[in-house]
Amino acid sequence: MFNVRKITDDYYYIGGNDHRLALFENIFPIPDGVSYNSYLLKDEKTVVFDTVDWSIAREFLNNIEQVLEGRDLDYLVINHMEPDHGASIELLLDKYPNLKVISTEKSIMIMRQFGFKVDDRTIQVEEGDSMNFGKHDITFVTAPMVHWPEVMMSYDIQDKILFAADAFGSFKANDGRLFNDEVDFDRDWLDEARRYYTNIVGKYGTFVQAVLKKAQTLEINYICPLHGLVWRNNFGYIIDKYDKWSRYEPEKEGALIVYASMYGNTEYAAQAIATKLCERGLTDISVRDVSNTDVSTLIAETFKYSNLIIASVTYNLHVYPKMKDFVNDMKALNVRNRTVSILENGSWAPKVADRLEDFFDNEMQLMDVRPETVTITSSLNYSKEEEIDSLVDGVFDSIKRTREDKEKTRQQKSK
Ligand code: FEO
Repeated sequence: MFNVRKITDDYYYIGGNDHRLALFENIFPIPDGVSYNSYLLKDEKTVVFDTVDWSIAREFLNNIEQVLEGRDLDYLVINHMEPDHGASIELLLDKYPNLKVISTEKSIMIMRQFGFKVDDRTIQVEEGDSMNFGKHDITFVTAPMVHWPEVMMSYDIQDKILFAADAFGSFKANDGRLFNDEVDFDRDWLDEARRYYTNIVGKYGTFVQAVLKKAQTLEINYICPLHGLVWRNNFGYIIDKYDKWSRYEPEKEGALIVYASMYGNTEYAAQAIATKLCERGLTDISVRDVSNTDVSTLIAETFKYSNLIIASVTYNLHVYPKMKDFVNDMKALNVRNRTVSILENGSWAPKVADRLEDFFDNEMQLMDVRPETVTITSSLNYSKEEEIDSLVDGVFDSIKRTREDKEKTRQQKSK
């Protein structure tokens, strides 16, 4: 068989990779591609879990044919109806006339909205329903807003497999690899997994927390997401990341410095802050030019680090437009619990600090704007060194306070 892999005795991976798509959802750059995952159970009955994007539908149909070896396809479980997973439903219905589609009420409604002729070939399931397919029983668990309202997850009771829909997925094509232990995830995958989660599902942290609580009650041998790798061990690692991301807790003590600079002067000031942070020992930092960094990367790194430092020129008496886009995206994705320091530049009427403080205080939640704002006029000079030092002091002070708060919480919990 080509491009099909076995997961357990009865389960097969039948998804594929897309390296030709430039923008996922026509918005997020995916330079390393993406996979659309689908799985097939070969039991007394045959069951496919989710379909794939149209772009790889032909290969998907071929994968199914290879695994079925002449058998009919009995059921299609749809955990998520976004077209990157639901698009090929009709192709399967046409090809396998006895096929029935199993999904939630909302999902079946969305199938019809997309114009899929599912007619009377659907089986509607609800939270806690189970179906038997021979040796295997599948229980259905609703997971609304992870990432659409119709989403459910499916759990194989015998093999202890969680089909997790978009949860635990990642950008990046699998390219032959399938399992988390076939890659150096922390080195090669975590950044793309974070960028995927924070931008696609990041807004819905409370819903992800609810699903994580449900998942705690299940014994799990495999997590099979709709994108990226299948997890078969080290579950604590990825669950801890999801727990932090969905509680909007930073993964790391460190700083993301995002600058908006028209002629290099604000960039120089941002670099001066970076240098002073590193000199004093805070080397886990990322310095990004807001004009040439995709906002999805900025969002991912905002979720990663404890501190955000914004250095921006004033533009039309407001924040530089691209910086405005970034902070608006932060708001849209419910980012919170971050400490923000601000450096503003303006040759005649610096306005960035006032505008941003107002935005973070009144339009976002739990954003701690440090008082040590630096104002420069046109360019940084040595008269401002004390203020820059003070901004850097503020970063260290916030990190120290967070550590102390954490220690207090830990001590209270251990009492
Ligand atoms: Fe990968 Fe929400 O679809």
